[in-house]
Amino acid sequence: MAIAAGAREVFTKGCRDIMRFFIDSADVSEIRDLAATGLVDGVTTNPSLIAKSGRDFVEVLGEICALVPGPISAEVAATDTTSMLAEGRYLAGIAENVVIKVPLTPDGLKACRALTDDGTPVNVTLCFSAAQAILAAKAGARYISPFIGRLDDVGADGLGLIADLVEIYSAYPTFTTEILVASVRNPEHVVEAAKMGAHVATLPPAVLRAMFKHPLTDKGLEAFLADWAKTGQTILKQPSQGTDDAKPTRRRA
Ligand code: E4P
Repeated sequence: MAIAAGAREVFTKGCRDIMRFFIDSADVSEIRDLAATGLVDGVTTNPSLIAKSGRDFVEVLGEICALVPGPISAEVAATDTTSMLAEGRYLAGIAENVVIKVPLTPDGLKACRALTDDGTPVNVTLCFSAAQAILAAKAGARYISPFIGRLDDVGADGLGLIADLVEIYSAYPTFTTEILVASVRNPEHVVEAAKMGAHVATLPPAVLRAMFKHPLTDKGLEAFLADWAKTGQTILKQPSQGTDDAKPTRRRA
């Protein structure tokens, strides 16, 4: 999991701001709810998530694209390049923010190159090794999706793969492929991937919600509210609340 000296600095220099968060879901009401936090930069879907939603893929995709202005990954279902391209071009026509997701297979990477050359961004999914991630970068992928939780599930080291990718991609600054940490199972995965400088993490809604939580936050807030109640004060005074007299003069911090 260790990153070679200097690699992270070189790598993160190319990153925009802080790690971006995508939501890994096709549940429109969950996405709407989480998007309201202002913390959601994009969405990833896959055939299993669409099946779970029980809804029409194209309809759901259109709704998600309208809801979240960032990149929305939509996965092809075909397995040969020609059909992947047909599906990918159709899905890309649904909204400007669609990113086409293709599996990491020889046909998928051929489709990746063709779609990329057309100007359509591609997310190469089902990546389980550094060797695969090198191929995806060479095929022009906009994103590579290493599935860390599924690696952990089989006793491998998911975060170790992220460390390898950060090191490899940082050695070749002309690679524009971004590491999209996928199959995230818990906030610790997010924290460790962020420490390495991974560009994006796609989070199941429960993981993003869990990131807000800390028992000491709940306990501390409870104590603050109890103490505040003892003062008998209110911050917004009645009855002048909302009038100009009620507004304090703002001084620079
Ligand atoms: C990524 O884009 C995939 O949709 C996803 O992260 C898969 O995760 P899972 O292993 O929880 O199904």
